[in-house]
Parts: sequence; structure tokens; C-alpha cells
Amino acid sequence: MLSKGNPTTCSAPYFALRSATPLNDATARQRAEFPPRAAAILSRRTLKTDYPALAAALLPGMRVLDAGCGTGAMTLGMAQAVAPARVVGVDVSADLLTKARQQRQAQENLSFVQADLYALPFEAEFDVVVAARVLQWLAEAQRAVRELARVLRPGGRLYLLDYQHYQATLEPAPPASMRHFRECYLAWRADAGFQNNMADQLPTLLAGAGLNDIQTVPQLETVRRGEPDFESRIGLWGEVAATRGHQVVAAGYLSEAEREQAEREFAVWARDQAQMQTLTLSSASASKPTR
Ligand SMILES: C[S@@+](CC[C@H](N)C(=O)[O-])C[C@H]1O[C@@H](n2cnc3c(N)ncnc32)[C@H](O)[C@@H]1O
Repeated sequence: MLSKGNPTTCSAPYFALRSATPLNDATARQRAEFPPRAAAILSRRTLKTDYPALAAALLPGMRVLDAGCGTGAMTLGMAQAVAPARVVGVDVSADLLTKARQQRQAQENLSFVQADLYALPFEAEFDVVVAARVLQWLAEAQRAVRELARVLRPGGRLYLLDYQHYQATLEPAPPASMRHFRECYLAWRADAGFQNNMADQLPTLLAGAGLNDIQTVPQLETVRRGEPDFESRIGLWGEVAATRGHQVVAAGYLSEAEREQAEREFAVWARDQAQMQTLTLSSASASKPTR
């Protein structure tokens, strides 16, 4: 079991930074930037596997906005589910949208727009609006959820999916170097205003945006040795150390040697010892009042 991200075990520069540097919106946006090398993590997702509650809710004819769509892997599944209605994927990252457009151009009812989730270039026009694994990267989640609700038509439904990072489980325990990396990573996130327990906050955010009929569905993503996708899924934290890890080092939360050690030792652990990983997420959805 991974520890609960107690920042007291993170290194000295972390404490200096935390007290000396007031973090602002620019810092949060910089930390939220998706490292291009991590795009593969997004591209191997599918709607049915990685957001089953939404897959079950989509019907042909529904107009969908996927906010924070990344490379559009799950957006493609949404477009297939609701065709011929239009689906729009929005992301702030030009690099990820280039990949999305290259990989999904055969799907005629799907398009991509570069935009900021806090200021969407749409009216109240979508039957379904989705933000999957995105709010965890926003320092002002309530403002974002209000904006997502604004572009829903009356009676439309907003779907949010996000992590409870403190409840990630790896068995057996990963190397100490990776536990240390993870604590620094969670502290680096928290200091930017990102909620590591975002999954628990989704119902409150939906209510705060004036939505009703709130429903939550837990989503536990468990993979065990022997399952077909074990190798790709068990390597997740190694990929985080190899990609996001450089941002954590640049911000002074741990040294490059510590990051590299975590990546290297975790790879050996994943290959030789790992048996199981569970990521804890929650989906919450709610409807926009009709008047
Ligand atoms: C972890 S990825 C999730 C991608 C996809 N929804 C999924 O579940 O696989 C988070 C995405 O949110 C995007 N993002 C972060 N801040 C954003 C903002 N202010 N406006 C729009 N997109 C943003 C990132 O560029 C990234 O593609």
C-alpha cells in the first residue's frame, strides 16, 4: 500500500519553496501542462474501459463536449456512441490536439478545438459535457465546473471523473525511492492548489454549479499480474516519474538523482515483483435544471 502522501517526508527544498513562494495561477497552469512524452498514457485509453459509467449513458443523437480531451482516445469512443450527433473535444494543449486530429480524422462527427476550460467558446448547446481526469489539474475547480455547466443545454448532464490519489494501492509495497517520489509529487500538486482527493469533491462541485439529480459511481481500476494489460498498466508510476517527474525536480521538490532512482528501481519492481495495482476514481454526474 502506498503511503498517504504525507509531505513531511519530502525533501528540504520542498519546505523552503512552500513557505517562500506564493503560488499563483501561472504556476498552477505551468504545473498542469501535460508533458508530450506522457501522451501515450492518454492514447491507450478507451471509453468502455476507462469511463464505463459514461459509456453506458451515451445514446445516438446526443451532442457531447469532452473538455480536457487530451489525445482524444476516449473522445473517439464518445463520437462512435452518439453518431451522427457531433462531438467536440477541447484541450488547452496544441501538441495533444495535433495528435488527436491525426489519430481520429476518420470519425466524421468528431472535431477538436483548442480552448481553455475556464472560458469555453460555446453557448448552452450540449446534451452531455464531460471532464475526465481534468479537474485534478485545476486550481479553481469550482469555477471550471460552473463553466462546464454553462455550456450544457437545460436538462443536459455533466459527467465528472477523477482520482482519489491517496487511495492508490500497489502490492507488494514498491521501492522506498518510488514512495518518496510519490510523496513529493503529491506535495508539488497540492502546493499548486490541485486537490489530490478530487474524487471526493465532485458532488459538492456539481451542487455548487447549481446542478441537480447528483449521482456518483465508484470506479476502481485494478490490474493483476497475468492479465493482458498488466505490463502497460503496472508501469504507470514509472511513466509519471519519467515524464511529470522532471517538472517536480525543476520545482525543487526532489533531486534528479532521486527521480532517476525511483524510475529505475520501480521498473525492476514492476518487472519482477509487482502483483497488483488499484487506482481509485469516482464518477459523478448531475443535470442542469430546465428552468
Ligand atoms: C490527465 S489528462 C486527461 C485526458 C482525458 N480526458 C483522459 O481521461 O484520458 C488532463 C487533460 O486536461 C488538459 N487541461 C489541463 N488544464 C486545462 C485547461 N485549463 N483547459 C483545457 N484543458 C486543460 C490537459 O492538457 C490534459 O490533456
